[in-house]
Amino acid sequence: MNLFSFIKERISILDVVNEYVTLKRAGGYHKGTCPFHHEKTASFTVSPDKQIFYCFGCHISGDVISFIAKIENCSQKDAAHLLTEKYSIELPSTLSFESSEISTEQKNHYFAICKAVALWCHEQLLKNPPAQSYFQRRGFGSEHFNYFTLGYFPSGNAGISDLLYAMKRQSILPRDLVEAQILAEGRTTLYSPFEERLIFPIKDALGRYCGFGGRTFKEHDTRPKYYNSRENEYFIKGSLLFNLDKAKKSIQETNTIFLVEGYTDCMAMTQQGFFNTVATLGTACTVEHLKQLARYAEHIFVVYDSDNAGKMAVLRLTELCWQVNLELKVIMLPAGEDPASFLLSNKGDFRTLIASAEDIFHYFLNTLGNNFTSKPLGQKLQTTRAFLNVIAHIPDPLKKDILLQKAAKTFDIPFQSLKQELAGIPEKISTAEQKHHPDPKAVAAPTEETISLLEKRIFCAIMNNMGLFSGEGRCRLIRYIQPPLQDILAQLKELKEKSGNITFGSFFDTLNERDRQYVSKLLLEEDEIVDPTAFDKLLGQLQKKQWKSIVQTIKTQLTRAQQEGDADKEALILRDFMELQSKFTASHHD
Ligand code: UTP
Ligand code: MN
Repeated sequence: MNLFSFIKERISILDVVNEYVTLKRAGGYHKGTCPFHHEKTASFTVSPDKQIFYCFGCHISGDVISFIAKIENCSQKDAAHLLTEKYSIELPSTLSFESSEISTEQKNHYFAICKAVALWCHEQLLKNPPAQSYFQRRGFGSEHFNYFTLGYFPSGNAGISDLLYAMKRQSILPRDLVEAQILAEGRTTLYSPFEERLIFPIKDALGRYCGFGGRTFKEHDTRPKYYNSRENEYFIKGSLLFNLDKAKKSIQETNTIFLVEGYTDCMAMTQQGFFNTVATLGTACTVEHLKQLARYAEHIFVVYDSDNAGKMAVLRLTELCWQVNLELKVIMLPAGEDPASFLLSNKGDFRTLIASAEDIFHYFLNTLGNNFTSKPLGQKLQTTRAFLNVIAHIPDPLKKDILLQKAAKTFDIPFQSLKQELAGIPEKISTAEQKHHPDPKAVAAPTEETISLLEKRIFCAIMNNMGLFSGEGRCRLIRYIQPPLQDILAQLKELKEKSGNITFGSFFDTLNERDRQYVSKLLLEEDEIVDPTAFDKLLGQLQKKQWKSIVQTIKTQLTRAQQEGDADKEALILRDFMELQSKFTASHHD
């Protein structure tokens, strides 16, 4: 038995999924709203017998381990690890996490170091009145110090040796701190780029400390305002978001996210009761960020600085956002304000700004359309094309038309001309849609329409009772079943030859993502119980049926060859046909 099967047998998929989705019983299944896409109907289906899930809306599927891997955005091995820890599963000595154990251990060690440093900096803040009073001047008190584990990194040798001493008691060595890039080696001493800075610890979506932002706060400090941890394997700015771990719950509850650029903006928003706020880490918002956020909510308000850089950032974001199923709106702050300054200064009511927030595409159009009529022709063309290139990828055709209509007015160009120009831009498949078809082959492969109900019934009968799939005659049926079912059965045959009797769960383990998706879907649709006699009847029907379609295909091929006057081809087709026919009759007699 392998590690994954061992874990799966000791956990109920219902227990695990129930932590994320409210499931209701429906016959042999349990249903709920899918946590991987937004829906009102309950398409997310879990089979406690088969220990698998499948969503009839977004087609995502898998077992309890891949459920965790997907929802927590981690590898299958990490997911298995998480489950063994959470459900206190004792692994026998013959099964272990093998080589991955080392990397998981390394990773956890890194997180532990960051956490220890964060807590130490937090203690230092509580001992340092000047650092505290900077925060207080900006409206943040001790409840925020705790909520965000804010800190202060003292300067000089005294600070460093205090840190080293505190870490040593937790078995963290100076070398560890250098490797984690919290300390650096000077010519004679260790120092830190975070010295004499306020510390904003950064956690991943699971709440594990993985990096820091450090802000100067003294008037005469001329260094760059922020020093953020350098990227490493565990600290990737393009996918991490400040405060996501804490904001997650409120985001899910409100189905809304506020996206800001700065740590202090995020803190100010939280302080005003907008707990559903996250911040990027001093780099641009990426598709990766958006995809992550799209898992928790449908609506995002972008609240960037009102300066030019902030506006440019919104325009760049517009170019990305068609790729995810999210509604982005832009909140416009008065000139010269960022979210923190606006919220903490009583300059106006933030809720009014929320109410008047503009759809990001409209914002995009308005920004491009600013002073449009007075621009030279070349620039007009460029701007119009830039606009069309962005909206070409919006999946909703109605939304596209509404925007075009508006653009026609703004640019003073007839709607039809814009529409025509738009038609010439090749459409890209959004990654949101690609997610449903992780492998391009999955799109091309025969789908429900071409795979007959008969084939599905045979396939499901086997999945429900693996014992049916034995004996020469029955196994030969594979060739009458279309791919991908054929390939899946071929894999089963091979596995059975290698390891004898196997369970559905252990077979499911060996399948790739695409095949798992097929299998889950079929199994959750079909659940008739088929006995061996009924099974053989189904097989007989399949042979007859497939034979008919083989003959049909060959007929068309022959006619085509005749029309082309290709006698060689004709002969070849006929020869193949004869060969098939002899095999078919042979299999009919065994
Ligand atoms: P801001 O300058 O808006 O920072 O930069 P802020 O967090 O709002 O800080 P306050 O309001 O001045 O206290 C936004 C983000 O850009 C990154 C930081 O991540 C910051 O939160 N940044 C900024 C840097 O990485 N380096 C810098 O020198 C400045
Ligand atoms: Mn700011």
